Amino acid sequence: MSEQKKLYIKTYGCQMNVYDSERISDALAPEGYSVTADENEADLVLLNTCHIREKAAEKIYSELGRMKQLKLKKPEMQFGVAGCVAQAEGQEIINRQPMVDLVVGSQAYHNLPEMMRDVAKGQKPVDIDFPAEDKFDHILRSKGKRKLPSAFLTVQEGCDKFCAFCVVPYTRGAEVSRPAQKIIDEAKHLVDQGVVEINLLGQNVNAYHGQGADGEWSLARLIRELAKINELKRIRFTTSHPNDMDDDLIAAHGDTEKLMPYLHLPVQAGSDRVLKAMNRKHTAEEYLKLIERIRSVRKDIALSGDFIVGFPGETEADFQDTLNLCEEVRYGQAYSFKYSTRPGTPAADRDQVDEVEKADRLKRLQTLLTKHQYEFQLSMVGKILPVLLEKPARDPGQFVGKSEYLHAVHMDAKAEQVGTIVQAKVTRTERNSLGAEIVK
Ligand code: SAH
Ligand code: SF4
Ligand code: F3S
Repeated sequence: MSEQKKLYIKTYGCQMNVYDSERISDALAPEGYSVTADENEADLVLLNTCHIREKAAEKIYSELGRMKQLKLKKPEMQFGVAGCVAQAEGQEIINRQPMVDLVVGSQAYHNLPEMMRDVAKGQKPVDIDFPAEDKFDHILRSKGKRKLPSAFLTVQEGCDKFCAFCVVPYTRGAEVSRPAQKIIDEAKHLVDQGVVEINLLGQNVNAYHGQGADGEWSLARLIRELAKINELKRIRFTTSHPNDMDDDLIAAHGDTEKLMPYLHLPVQAGSDRVLKAMNRKHTAEEYLKLIERIRSVRKDIALSGDFIVGFPGETEADFQDTLNLCEEVRYGQAYSFKYSTRPGTPAADRDQVDEVEKADRLKRLQTLLTKHQYEFQLSMVGKILPVLLEKPARDPGQFVGKSEYLHAVHMDAKAEQVGTIVQAKVTRTERNSLGAEIVK
């Protein structure tokens, strides 16, 4: 066993980065690293970064600037940058912030042990290659009980869609699906560790087409297979593209009990002109028809989405189409952003919408989305919902869990109920959560 060292990982961006951070710590565990929540005691600090919007990327440099203080106090502390900023900027990060010892792109985490040996020799390795093999192939999931009963599992990575605003096809590479058996094995391992809910991840998760026992499997096929694992109680998946929502996956929402009635299906905008300029390859009408078909098999499904306002060329009339679409769909929950210029993407060179206008549109859209979210939460009051209890909440004796619709639900409970699904009667709604009482 090598010498004991402490690893501090700070994770930014999407759920896939959360998953990757766990795999990074698994990759470094055999090198003697254990994870710490305290940056001050770290031997190695890793920032697992996001490049999706300008602000997200700039945050990394200001964080590194702040972390110089740590280095002053403890000069032997090492710093690494991982994730999508690392993938996009590579060596440039070290040029701009020489304190950084290593840069590891989103597809090279399996090389981290070797990179750390190079760092020990005084080198500053940069690895932003896209290898052909599964980057987590040789990394064993750590053993022992898990803190949370819910876990992420990446099944697909990368994207071939090239929406005109988006960096993901560049930072995550081409779309790759993991073989089905690897996913099933990993799911079983998670279940052995006490996990009862798995959230299947992919940048375009519903484009999944991994090798199965009898040819390529779709996401629906994979979900049906995972549903056979007895102790696994809940399955979710995110994020989906409307154009990859096939008949079988829609059907699965109707016939697979363990598949939760929640679907994150970003549309980005409600105007066909803008959708076309974004290269989304579907119209607003087609999206609404799709939602109708999903609701016809699962009436109560909660829908969630992503929106971009102020995409280059978006007029007030286009923006109104987005508001209209939201009125039609009534999302249970949604994310919305001002368009952020990403150098190297097709939309970056187009005529930009005024910043003040963007901010105003975002405010109006968020007001509407918040209203719908609140109304959806209000409709839960008085209902009895199955809630997967996850962890203690802030108040003593209080715990928080997730409804099938992914609401955070607070209630009084016993510690031994964590990890189980309780029946809880919703008594009130807060801004972003529900309050409930256990009835069984
Ligand atoms: N793969 C997913 C999400 C990718 S990124 C999908 O296809 O939907 C998550 C969200 O960030 C996107 O859905 C989009 O709403 C937002 N986003 C991506 N690029 C952006 C940009 N340049 N400016 C503002 N928001 C952006
Ligand atoms: Fe980005 Fe579009 Fe791919 Fe989603 S589908 S990751 S928004 S390029
Ligand atoms: Fe960000 Fe990379 Fe995820 S850019 S949103 S961390 S795929």
